[in-house]
Amino acid sequence: MPNFNVGVLGATGAVGQKFIRLLQDHPWFTIHSLGASSRSAGKPYVEAANWIESTEMPESVQQIVVKDCTPKAFAGVDFVFSGMDASVAGDIELDFAKAGIPVISNARNFRTDPTVPLLVPEVNPGHTELIHQQSFTDDGSGWIVTNPNCVAVPLTMSLKPLHDQYGIKSVILTSMQAVSGAGYPGVPSLDILGNVVPLISGEEPKIHAEPLKVFGTLKDGKLTHAEIPIQATATRVPTINGHLLSVTVGLHNKPSSAEEAIRAVKNWESPIAKYDLPTAPDFPIFYHDDERYPQPRLHADSERGMRTAVGRIRSSNVLDLTFVAMAHNTVRGAAGGAILNAELLVAKGFIK
Ligand SMILES: NC(=O)c1ccc[n+]([C@@H]2O[C@H](COP(=O)([O-])OP(=O)(O)OC[C@H]3O[C@@H](n4cnc5c(N)ncnc54)[C@H](OP(=O)(O)O)[C@@H]3O)[C@@H](O)[C@H]2O)c1
Repeated sequence: MPNFNVGVLGATGAVGQKFIRLLQDHPWFTIHSLGASSRSAGKPYVEAANWIESTEMPESVQQIVVKDCTPKAFAGVDFVFSGMDASVAGDIELDFAKAGIPVISNARNFRTDPTVPLLVPEVNPGHTELIHQQSFTDDGSGWIVTNPNCVAVPLTMSLKPLHDQYGIKSVILTSMQAVSGAGYPGVPSLDILGNVVPLISGEEPKIHAEPLKVFGTLKDGKLTHAEIPIQATATRVPTINGHLLSVTVGLHNKPSSAEEAIRAVKNWESPIAKYDLPTAPDFPIFYHDDERYPQPRLHADSERGMRTAVGRIRSSNVLDLTFVAMAHNTVRGAAGGAILNAELLVAKGFIK
C-alpha cells in the first residue's frame, strides 16, 4: 500500500478543514505538517482553527503546531495540498514547487498556466502528462496540479458523457451556489437569509474559461483549449453545501430523444475506474430518475460528497437538451477533488 507524508497549506480555512476531515484515516496519506498565515503559525491546531466541520476535530491533529507556509518549515513532506486564500497562494505555491515539493492546489492562481493541469480525474486524466512540461525545478521534482472552480467541476463532469457522445456546441447555465463556497465567515447573514444574491463577484469568468481547458486536447505536450461558448449566471442561495446548476446545451450531433441522452449518461464509464482509487466514488456521475432530484440537502453528501448528481434531462425549447447537476462544493469541488487528483498522480507514478 502506498504511504506518503502530506502537508496542508491553508489548513485552518473552510477547505483546509475539509482536507483534515477527509485525510483522517486515509489509507495512503498521513498528515505530517499544517500551515496557515502568521496569525495562526506557532499555535496548536486546536487553538488556531475555528473548527466548522460537523464532526469532531480529529485528535491526531489537535496538538500539531501550525507552521508558516514555507518549504523549509515543511521539510519531510512528500507533497502538499493547498487550500490557501488566492491573494497569497500564487507566490507560496511557486516557492514550494521551486523547492521540489509537489503542490496539489484548490486556489485559482495557476489554473490558467498552460503547463499546469486543471484536473478532474474522470474527465481529463490524460492531462497529468502536462506535468512533464513544467520547469519549476531542473530535475522535475517540483510541480503544480490544480482543480477547477467548484462550479466548473460538476459542470464538466455532467457534460462529459454528453460531450463524448454528441459533442458540446454551446452551454447556458445558472448556478445556485451554497454559502460554504464563500469560506468562513463568508456571506453576511442579512444578505443571504431568505434571499438570493444574483451575482458572485469574479465567478462567471472562471465558469466560462475553465471548462475549455478541462475539455482541451493535449498533443505533443501542448494543450489546445476546446471552443465552446459558455454563458453563466452565478447566484448565491441560502443552502449550506452543494452547488446546484441548471444547464442548457447545444450539441453538434443530436440525440434521437432525451431518453437516449439519459442512457448515454447512465452507460458512461469512468476512465479511472481501473485504478480503484480510495476516494473515487462508485458512480461519479449519478443519474436520478426521480424528477424531484438532485437536491443539495438530500444528496450533497452521497458517496462521501464525491459524486456529481444529474437529473431532469429533457429536450430544450431553445437549444438541444436541458438538465440539472449538483455536487458538494467543498468536497468534490475542492478538497475531495484534490485528494482524488493526488491518488491518480500516485497511481500514474508522478508521486513516488
Ligand atoms: N470554499 C469553497 O467551496 C472553495 C471551492 C474551491 C476552491 N476554493 C479555494 O480554496 C481556497 C481556500 O478557500 P476557503 O473557502 O477555505 O477560504 P478561507 O476559509 O478564507 O481560508 C483561507 C486559508 O488561507 C490561509 N491564509 C490566509 N493568508 C495566508 C498567508 N499569508 N499565508 C498562508 N496562509 C494564509 C488562512 O489562514 P488563517 O486562518 O491563518 O488566516 C486559511 O487557512 C481559496 O483559494 C478558494 O478560492 C474554495
